[in-house]
Amino acid sequence: MSGNLEKIDKDFQKLLTQAKSSKELQDLRVSFLGKKGRLTESLKAIGQLPESERPSFGQKVNELRVVLEGALNKKDQEIRYQEVSAKIQNEKIDVTLPGYVQAKGSVHPLTLVQDKLVRIFSSLGFSIEEGPDIESDYYNFGALNFPDNHPARDMQDTFFTKNKQVLRTHTSPVQVRVMERDTPPIRMIVPGRVYRHDADTTHSPVFHQIEGLCVGPNITFAHLKGTLEAFVQMMFGQNVPVRFRPSFFPFTEPSAEMDVMGPHGTWMEILGCGMVDPNVFENIAQAWSKKYPDEKQNPYDPEKISGFAFGMGIERIAMIEYGITDIRLFYENDLRFLEQFV
Ligand code: DAH
Repeated sequence: MSGNLEKIDKDFQKLLTQAKSSKELQDLRVSFLGKKGRLTESLKAIGQLPESERPSFGQKVNELRVVLEGALNKKDQEIRYQEVSAKIQNEKIDVTLPGYVQAKGSVHPLTLVQDKLVRIFSSLGFSIEEGPDIESDYYNFGALNFPDNHPARDMQDTFFTKNKQVLRTHTSPVQVRVMERDTPPIRMIVPGRVYRHDADTTHSPVFHQIEGLCVGPNITFAHLKGTLEAFVQMMFGQNVPVRFRPSFFPFTEPSAEMDVMGPHGTWMEILGCGMVDPNVFENIAQAWSKKYPDEKQNPYDPEKISGFAFGMGIERIAMIEYGITDIRLFYENDLRFLEQFV
């Protein structure tokens, strides 16, 4: 009987030396000390012993159990220590290594300028509107008082779709869309993409404009001047001189172009503007009376309403602001260019 216990002890010690992981150790514990383990099983043989030997055999089994448990626990500690040390070794971080530099994006210069324009006009009480890039001939030209034979309607200047729509050549058609939708007073700007069949260092087939429109009962040219002069001060600085030159646009009468004084004492044209042409109001008025045939008062009666409008190219303003001489730089996505704007 005791010989059997010795064998158990010997086998156990051998396996214990071989055990290399907590898992193996746990298996070992179960196979010797568990309910059906070898030591536990050995107790069952106690019945075959003469009664006088039973207590001392029982005691030996218990002693061995204590020894085995002690050995297991000690080995368990060793293995855990080894496991943790290995983990620390493997996961060691060399804090002296240089870090990975995260490439940071920056806002595109055209977006920077557009955001600044939008902020300025928002602060003057203008709301922001949008319209479609693909327009009807009516919104892009007809409603804006372009005569049928106007050169802008020529294929040379304008992109047409197969079904005779146009890629809008300016943001002005949104004036018509908003006036057909809303009653005055209107004070809005329209930032957006526009398209023209044109390409050189200062012209791109796709570019951006901001349109402005202010319509109300007694809007005058003085409002136009005051608004645009305030805009120039906020955009280019307090004391930048401006001037208005007479010009022509089909949808404004009178029309003007506004120049600002550049750093080298030269005048630079920055926008077109004017008083909304009564013919435009007449076109809107007709759309209203079609929509509301019973209304006696037409909100766009050219005799009772007036307004001013303006439009400018965002690229042009950005080129002035940053001293850029080739418009194509905006679209080439060359990081050496783009990274300069932060
Ligand atoms: N639509 C004109 C253009 O593309 C710019 C313009 C001029 C807009 C005068 C206006 C305006 O609203 O009043 O050249």
